[in-house]
Amino acid sequence: MASDQAILEAVREAGVKIESSCENGLCGCCRTRLLGGVADHRDLVLTDAERASPEEIMICISRAKAGEVLVLDI
Ligand code: FES
Repeated sequence: MASDQAILEAVREAGVKIESSCENGLCGCCRTRLLGGVADHRDLVLTDAERASPEEIMICISRAKAGEVLVLDI
């Protein structure tokens, strides 16, 4: 996965079908459980409280912070 690549794109390239809609971090359709790692949340769906202790991630637009590996429940 490239550092500038959204998770949804990488997952699709791996052949996994994931539901999505806006693909801009606006609708929450691609909400996925985040099991580990530090994410760069770029969506407008999560609240500030959810971002402080994130258990979910919008994989259409968000990605791992530099040097991090994310573990997702897909
Ligand atoms: S598809 Fe809408 S937030 Fe990801």
